[in-house]
Amino acid sequence: MGKSYKIGIIKGDGIGPEIIDEAIKVLDATASHFGFELQYEEFLLGGAAIDETGSPIPQETLIGVNRVDAVLFGAIGGPKWDNLERHLRPETGLLKLRKEMGTFANLRPAIVYDELVNASTLKPSVVEGVDIMVVRELTGGIYFGEPREYTPQKAYNTMVYTKEEIARIAKVAFDIAMKRNKRVCSVDKANVLEVSQLWREVVEEVAQEYPEVELSHMYVDNAAMQLIRQPKQFDVIVTGNIFGDILSDAASMLSGSIGLLPSASVGSKVGLYEPIHGSAPDIAGQGIANPIATIASAAMMLRYALNEIEAADAIESAIKKVLADGYRTGDLSAYDAKEIVSCSEMGSIIANYVAKS
Ligand code: IPM
Ligand code: MN
Repeated sequence: MGKSYKIGIIKGDGIGPEIIDEAIKVLDATASHFGFELQYEEFLLGGAAIDETGSPIPQETLIGVNRVDAVLFGAIGGPKWDNLERHLRPETGLLKLRKEMGTFANLRPAIVYDELVNASTLKPSVVEGVDIMVVRELTGGIYFGEPREYTPQKAYNTMVYTKEEIARIAKVAFDIAMKRNKRVCSVDKANVLEVSQLWREVVEEVAQEYPEVELSHMYVDNAAMQLIRQPKQFDVIVTGNIFGDILSDAASMLSGSIGLLPSASVGSKVGLYEPIHGSAPDIAGQGIANPIATIASAAMMLRYALNEIEAADAIESAIKKVLADGYRTGDLSAYDAKEIVSCSEMGSIIANYVAKS
């Protein structure tokens, strides 16, 4: 028997449970094919946790994630919990989890599968071959800055970054660029914000350690426009928390569906692997969600957390093959579909392809 790993599972809300079940199906098939063992432990977060314990992030979850090798996460939130006070909302649970786990680097690849060049709202010639890695700072910036306050007359947040926080996310981006096409574009708003001025200076400083990497800077408004105008100019994009949140949603649509793209949140301790989409309450429970983003997140987990590279490759190849063979969930039904399949059928087909790989 090969190695054994402990995986924390957070299903969450909305389509979270459905898509996670398919990722587990694929992980199990992959583990038995490649001869390693996976043990799962489930934790509560978000709305599901509020319903059961009154807190969006119970103590048991915060402690439990320290005893696993990686955490696979579905999605959280929904209209049921929308009117709660901020500190009780599902999103607060996720933000606290990221902070406590120290997952300061959020890697969000935006890849256009050849099989789906027609699925994008942009012209095939614009998106064909796009392969961007957005490196989003995840535990700082305006999401966490103090002071912050809401009153009915006046409300504010604070965008703050320390030199240390900027340097460590920049290093992650440059390290990734070294394994890719050696280009980093740092996105900021240095023409207006002091925090961006520091961001730019520190990124420049870190770049000195990577003479092979070509560094450019772009203002965030221009970056949003360039992502749509000519996305192939980008290799690695590094940016702060809120700019990264916005740009990664925009970049995801180059691929045709936000239901395709995974993410890895890594830092000093255990990593968190999650699709970039949300909990899609409008389609929850209907069995029509696209599980590919979550299955691809599981592949990232095998690659980055468990170093099971061959297994990760096998899942990614299986995803490409189902798309090439024309299997589509509802979100992609209009694009060269040979067969429309349910969430669970999609999981089974990918699992079978891995088992036969
Ligand atoms: C994301 C989400 C979260 C974020 C929300 C749910 C707090 O939009 O993972 O991109 O803003 O980080
Ligand atoms: Mn987002």
